[in-house]
Amino acid sequence: MTKKVTTSTLLNMKQQGQKITALTAYDASFAKLFDEQGIDVMLIGDSLGMVLKGSDDTLSVTVEDIAYHTRSVRSGTQRAFVIADMPFMSYATPEQTYQNAAALMAAGASMVKVEGGDWLVDTVKGLNLRGVPVCGHLGLTPQSVHVFGGFKVQGRSDLQAEMLLEHAQDLANAGVQLLVLECVPTSLAQKITESVSIPVIGIGAGAKTDGQILVMHDMFGISANYMPKFSKNYLEQTGDMREAVKSFIEEVQGGVFPDEQHSFE
Ligand code: KIV
Repeated sequence: MTKKVTTSTLLNMKQQGQKITALTAYDASFAKLFDEQGIDVMLIGDSLGMVLKGSDDTLSVTVEDIAYHTRSVRSGTQRAFVIADMPFMSYATPEQTYQNAAALMAAGASMVKVEGGDWLVDTVKGLNLRGVPVCGHLGLTPQSVHVFGGFKVQGRSDLQAEMLLEHAQDLANAGVQLLVLECVPTSLAQKITESVSIPVIGIGAGAKTDGQILVMHDMFGISANYMPKFSKNYLEQTGDMREAVKSFIEEVQGGVFPDEQHSFE
């Protein structure tokens, strides 16, 4: 029988210095393909608003959307750890948070992801107490794109960097068991990764985090509107989807991806 990836597996991987590989997934067929190649984590990301619906941002995604795709991904997955995104404004009050997290866990998620810093400390504690593991998400948090004034690298000034470091530590102390760090300079991502005991998964955060995640459409080079600088088209090397995923896994595990070209200073 396949041994499932759990929060303990991921923590152990950080402690052993083994890189964690992660991709977004939205349906059973791709989930099965990713799972068979050995991807450790699959995220039903609210990026589906952009790559499936074709929107300019993630804000229109609903809990029902994520629940539907989580059910699909769960049914294609044997081994990988499955995380579901809590969409924009679905965790604004404790009542909403618990009800929506329950819907996503019932759909097959093993953890939910929320975007933001220390203001989520009580949310994380409340979810943990009710049996819901939580993944944090800091840096370029796409649900705040209009506050940032666009999809921009975060943490470049000393003040911003210090704040992000503190938020990461606050979330880890509150009980977050995994942290996604998006679009921050490599040196800051390294500092944050070394300062918390939980695994940190980077996207546009350089090679020093405990693992890497990409949006699957970016990794295949088929995103409709835009290819981020930090992403790499793995399909163009062989033209075969399974080989592309295999190559992504090998490059992350071998520390080859991301290189400087796909990172920020
Ligand atoms: O929604 C998403 O796909 C994400 C990843 C970019 C980490 O949050």
